[in-house]
This record gives sequence, structure tokens and C-alpha cells, in this order.
Amino acid sequence: MIDLLIHNQTEEQKENLEQMLRKNADVLSKAQAGEAQYADSLGWLDTREWAGEDMLDRLEALAREIRGNADAFVLIGVGGSNNAARSVVEALKQEDGPEIIYAGNTLSPHALRKMLAQLHGKSVYIDCIAKNFETLEPGASFRVLRKFLYDTYGAEAPKRIIATGTAGSTLEQLCTENGYTFLEFPVNVGGRYTAMTSVGLLPMAVAGIDIRALVRGAEDMQRTLRSRGFEENTAYRYACLRNLYYELGYRVEMLASFEPQFRWFYKWWEQLFAESEGKENKGIFPVTGEFSEELHSLGQFIQDGPPIMFETFLDVEKQNASLMPEPDGIQDYFDYLNGKDFWEINKAAYHATVAAHSRKLPCLTLKLGELDAYHFGQMFYFFQFACYLSARIMGVNPFDQPGVEAYKKWMFDALGK
Ligand code: PA5
Repeated sequence: MIDLLIHNQTEEQKENLEQMLRKNADVLSKAQAGEAQYADSLGWLDTREWAGEDMLDRLEALAREIRGNADAFVLIGVGGSNNAARSVVEALKQEDGPEIIYAGNTLSPHALRKMLAQLHGKSVYIDCIAKNFETLEPGASFRVLRKFLYDTYGAEAPKRIIATGTAGSTLEQLCTENGYTFLEFPVNVGGRYTAMTSVGLLPMAVAGIDIRALVRGAEDMQRTLRSRGFEENTAYRYACLRNLYYELGYRVEMLASFEPQFRWFYKWWEQLFAESEGKENKGIFPVTGEFSEELHSLGQFIQDGPPIMFETFLDVEKQNASLMPEPDGIQDYFDYLNGKDFWEINKAAYHATVAAHSRKLPCLTLKLGELDAYHFGQMFYFFQFACYLSARIMGVNPFDQPGVEAYKKWMFDALGK
């Protein structure tokens, strides 16, 4: 499970939180049941709706075939069609599978050429993931990659093409007409909530990740968060704290950890909260801190800049690696490290940072048992549910993203669509 620690909390802050927890208790009970007004976006609330046994069997069989034949697998997708898979793949991928390459998330010709150059001489499979197959980045990359596959494999190319789109979409039609494998993108799940569906799970399975463990983690978290009351529900407590800090004028949340394995998870988390909450002139701006590196850059602003942010640390309890900085006989003045494992040194940096920062700004820690597939599943469900609650407490719709459409209209006009 995930535990929540509140650092340096005063009696007054405790009382304010208790009030907030009681005041919004109906937000929790409504979310636990799933609100009818969001029925078209709540397909993730029951993890098994889109990750049942049949679906997992199908995804594992497809992943086995790809792993057996591919040197490179290109995930074409942007935002919610990319971030969940990438966060797990980059944290936990096995060395024995195909290289996972990302496309559909940029319009830069330099980046696209670089991506294509990585494919030469390799056996390539692609998966184009797009809920709304009008999004320019995946659509344009899919075109480039289809041409690459047909040029390279001729009539064999369709066997190497998978597309994940909604039932009845133009993407499905394209698959039917050209003999590509089609996977269903859940119609009742928005991109950023799709980690536990074919969108996130196929690329993860191709990378050799145990997707059943992920789904189990999400399901266990679901059971807890949808049954626990307002006094003992960690996601609800986190959502209330966010809103409490927001009411006190804090406009930025920094998610920070001392584990670079979270690097791509940060992008998923940023998207989840930015797109779900930032609307109607409200919202907490999500940023991330990769510590200890960024203590040497952002750390100055956090400690001494304007008090606009609160910090949420992700801390992993179970040690997953070990390295001793052995002395080599050269006097380098680092002998105080003798006999200490880097795991312990990194933890000392975490505790020191919490001690320093929590004297200046509100600091929370979310404690995670272990950094593995099961716990990634837990985190996805935890943050998705917390985000739903937090946006509802703030009074905005957690599932739409009207602001993203504004630039698209200007761009499509400019490109003559
Ligand atoms: O969460 C969302 O709905 C969005 O971020 C989408 O995932 C993103 O815009 C990609 O959309 P699509 O899958 O339609 O290309």
C-alpha cells in the first residue's frame, strides 16, 4: 500500500485538515460509487473492465509474438497514449526484449530522422495508439513509419503494424482495409487514465514487464480506495491536502524523489494533474524534481524563492540495489562514506532535504513499498483516483481538456486542414 506522511504539521494544520476531510466526505463517497455525470470517462474505475483475463491473454500472446520477432518496437502516441507505458518501460524494462522506441510525440524533423535512423537494419514492429485519430503528432508519425515498413518489408509490412483506436474509428477502418492488427482503445477512458488498458499494457508486455502484477497492484489499490472511509483513505487525504494548500495560496506542487527510475513516471503524473485540474482559471501547476541532481539547481528556488509551492516526495522503502564507495587508498577527503552503501547515502539526502524544505514549505511523502510492476499498478490507480477527488473538490471536471483544443484549431487552420 501507499502511506502518506505529513512533515512538520502543526496542531492548527491538523485541525484544518480534519475540517477539510469532513467537509468533502461526500466527494469521496460519490467517487467511490462513480458519478453518473462522468459515466463516459470512468471505465478505469473498475480496473478489470478493460484488463480482464481475456484481454490480458490476448495482449500477452501478441507481446510474445512481437518479442519473438522484433528487435525494435515503436510506440507511436502522445500524452495519455504514451506516458503510462513509457514510465513503466523506462523504469523496469528487461534487457532481453526488443528496444522500445518512441514516436508520435513530436513534429521535429530532426527528432523524427533520429528515430528512423535507430530502426535501420532492425526487425521493426509498430503500434499506433490514438483515441482521436485526428491528433497530428501520432497521425504524421504513423504515416512516416508505415512508409518505412512498406519500403522495408513490402507485402509483409501489415503483419508488423498494430493500431490501438476506438471501435468504429477511422483507425479501425484503416486496420480492416489494410490487414493490420487492431486493439480497442476504451471509449469510456480518457488517454491519461488508460494505464491499465491495452493502451498502456501492450507496450509494457512487449518490454517484458509482468502486466498481471501491474493489474493486481491497481486492483488491490482500487479495493482499498473505493471502500475506505474519509478518515482512513490515503488518496482522499492527499486530495484534501492539495486543496488545503491551494486555499492557502500555494499554486505549484512539486513531485520529487531521489530515484531516477521515476523520470518518465513524472511526465505521466504531470499530464494527469495538469490536464485534469488546470481549467476555469483554477488548478495547481504540477512540476517535478529529480533529486539529488536538481537540488543543485531548483533547490535554491525551492528553499529561498517565493513561497508558491508545496512538495510531495515519493520514497521507496525496499532496497533494490547496492553499491559501496570503496576507498582506493587515495586521499580524497570522502572517507566519511567508508562502510556506507549508496542506498543509505541517498536516503540521508532525502531525509536532509525533507528537514530543510519542510521548514519553508508544506512537505508530504508518499511511501511506496517497492519499485516493481505491482507497485506501479498501485501508483497509477492511487494518483488517478486522487486526481479525480482533487479536481472534484476544486470544482472542475477531471476528465475533459478543453484548453488543449485551442492551439489545435490555430494549427489546423495554419496547415489548411
Ligand atoms: O488525456 C488525454 O485525453 C489526452 O492527453 C490524450 O491522451 C492526448 O491528447 C492524445 O490523444 P489521442 O490518443 O487522441 O491522440
